[in-house]
Amino acid sequence: MSITLAQAKEKLKKYGQEHVLKYYDELSAAGQAALLEQIGGSDMDILDSCKHQEELLERGVITPLAAMELPEIEANRESFTATGIEAIRAGKVAAVLLAGGMGTRLGSDDPKGVYNIGITRELYIFQCLVNNLMEVVRQADTWIHLFVMTSDKNHEATVKFLTEHEFFGYSAEYVHFFQQKMALAVDYDGKVYMEEKGKMASSPNGNGGWFVSMEDAGLVDLIHREGIEWLNAFAVDNVLQRICDPCFVGATIQRECVAGAKVVGKVTPDEKVGAICLEDGRPSIVEYYDMTQELMDAKDAQGKPAYHFGVILNYLFNVEELERIVSQSLPLHVVEKKIPYLNEVGELVKPQAPNGYKFENLILDMIHQTGSCLPFEVVREKEFAPIKNKTGIDSVESARELLRQNGVTL
Ligand code: UTP
Repeated sequence: MSITLAQAKEKLKKYGQEHVLKYYDELSAAGQAALLEQIGGSDMDILDSCKHQEELLERGVITPLAAMELPEIEANRESFTATGIEAIRAGKVAAVLLAGGMGTRLGSDDPKGVYNIGITRELYIFQCLVNNLMEVVRQADTWIHLFVMTSDKNHEATVKFLTEHEFFGYSAEYVHFFQQKMALAVDYDGKVYMEEKGKMASSPNGNGGWFVSMEDAGLVDLIHREGIEWLNAFAVDNVLQRICDPCFVGATIQRECVAGAKVVGKVTPDEKVGAICLEDGRPSIVEYYDMTQELMDAKDAQGKPAYHFGVILNYLFNVEELERIVSQSLPLHVVEKKIPYLNEVGELVKPQAPNGYKFENLILDMIHQTGSCLPFEVVREKEFAPIKNKTGIDSVESARELLRQNGVTL
């Protein structure tokens, strides 16, 4: 949003961020205009949140939510799959790839999806995902719309890479890119960092804003035009996951739920995955850092761990439900991060340790807004190979091993 210098000064004064204009006079006319535009378009109401973080994330009463487990799925696989295939063939199901994250833990400046995990051949993360979706395309004998969310930081590189690789055989007509919003990044006192003399530091605003961003991009019109009723949103980094899995889609439809979440049994009660549950009687997810000992020890009516199932960031949402909840605001998560910034003398510093906060909305909080959600168990070794780090847990190494186990040549 374009604003005048006077309006920018007024806004910055209101939020105690006057330092943002420190270098204004040194900027070119275009640089000045860009900075004013960024100031005008930035949500500064959120900045104060880092000072009262505890209140932001107060939780309701947590109780168990039973998952549909493997034996029940196996017993109904044929019927669920038939229902799912029918919906996919009718064009009612689409996929949403959440690829706007920075992937900082992987330590590459490129978008995470362009990471080559192959050894004897090239095998990119994006390629693995497309291959997985293609299996369903072949099974259903129809193309499936694939929406790809990027951010200001990786949009161009993502589009260029996928275009150059001809979408790894996917039909370009069915691929739609959209960009998520950015949020400002601040120091521990809530002061916005500058990443350039004419640019405030910002980062993607989390994976929770995807449907709002699709609306902003005009893609919800396309969804209506095409008669899409279900969106399967999934993370970029799980190279084994099934996307638009007909069995999962069919189970969610047959159980008359407006959302579904793929889950795996946790390896240990404190494993770093969010646990599916009810919160004040509605579906919800407790993040691993909110898991108390009491919750980890709790048992359900059958004497099994009550919060045993963890989400793998593969969710199915009914479009009507998304449109109902889209106006509700999501809780804001304040996350400590390493934020590159200009120091006192205007030099760029890339910190080695966290030096401030980013603000994010998370997709898992959308589950709490839905009326019903089916936790759908999947076999971990077949569907969960997240790549967060280079080595160790949830890494390139561990994902390679799992891909090998599943017969993928590396
Ligand atoms: P992560 O929570 O792993 O975050 O994202 P990240 O930014 O990719 O990685 P780190 O923490 O910096 O190492 C989980 C999924 O959500 C997407 C990511 O691309 C990934 O698919 N995501 C995350 C977004 O699309 N936008 C965001 O703002 C954040």
